[in-house]
Amino acid sequence: MAFCLQIDDLHLALRAARKRPARLILRGIDLRIGAGEVHALVGESGAGKSMVGRTVLGIAPPEMQVMSGSVRFQGIDWLGMKASARRQYLGRDITLIPQDPLTALNPGHTIGAQVGDVLRLHLKLDAAQAAARALELLDAVQIRSPATVLRQYPHELSGGMRQRVLIAIAFACKPKLIIADEPTTALDVTVQRQVLRLLRDLQRNEGAAVLFITHNLGLVAKLCDSVSVIHSGRIVEQGDVGAIIEAPRTAYTRSLFAATPRYDRPAESLRPIEPQVTDALWAEAKSYDLTWWPTRAAAEAARRAARG
Ligand SMILES: Nc1ncnc2c1ncn2[C@@H]1O[C@H](COP(=O)(O)OP(=O)(O)O)[C@@H](O)[C@H]1O
Ligand SMILES: [Mg+2]
Repeated sequence: MAFCLQIDDLHLALRAARKRPARLILRGIDLRIGAGEVHALVGESGAGKSMVGRTVLGIAPPEMQVMSGSVRFQGIDWLGMKASARRQYLGRDITLIPQDPLTALNPGHTIGAQVGDVLRLHLKLDAAQAAARALELLDAVQIRSPATVLRQYPHELSGGMRQRVLIAIAFACKPKLIIADEPTTALDVTVQRQVLRLLRDLQRNEGAAVLFITHNLGLVAKLCDSVSVIHSGRIVEQGDVGAIIEAPRTAYTRSLFAATPRYDRPAESLRPIEPQVTDALWAEAKSYDLTWWPTRAAAEAARRAARG
């Protein structure tokens, strides 16, 4: 059986001006997610988490270029696919739960119109069917008085409510893969917990695989099956969540844990990440800053040379 998502040796570079060194944003990402599996991608801000998600969705910024590697969705060569073919899957089989629930919804349309659009576009429902299904979906994300909310505009809802709507949209077409990019970071802590519980319950019922992007290692244990720890565009540790929490293999993962607040530990036990832990990782990252690669083939050659 093909993996739901399989990323092999993905290199993503920030295009530089001619003759300037290119910056590698992702450096050989390998990642596999089985059907129905929840995989966490954890790392500090700027590590490259969102760029992994955006490359999978095909929405990396235009100034970034995939230099080598592959992304497969259910065995299909995803990056090799035409953008028009990819759009058939996006929003239906692969969906996104974004970080910022305010900007992700269109302020000029009602919630009902936005949920309904997805259902009409991807599932070809007519207006009446879409309205009925939208009601069910809002009910499934535990929005009280869903009929009222369907007539409301995003600004009339709280952040938590808006994120529930976005979760409803993400699950609307029974997706195979959901990219959840810091889905609760913009919410306050109590709402965060409710939204995460909801996300986990829906995921279990629907059996969707999730790439759960977060900087909070504390959330990973409750929610995820497996985890990749990323630093400066490279995965430093990967495996089963239980095993990694039990016995992190790298100093970086250990210090990330020590820097993560936990409900079962007093706040004063928090320790910042020691510079010596990250110095080596940064030095290694810098050695990757190559001169500008004109082609994928040249990138492959440069990378092989850099690896020796
Ligand atoms: N549009 C952009 N142009 C140039 N650099 C960017 C852009 N977006 C992100 N970056 C850089 O790419 C790196 C990875 O960013 P990102 O994936 O957003 O990090 P994370 O999600 O882990 O916080 C960062 O070093 C960031 O500065
Ligand atoms: Mg991010």
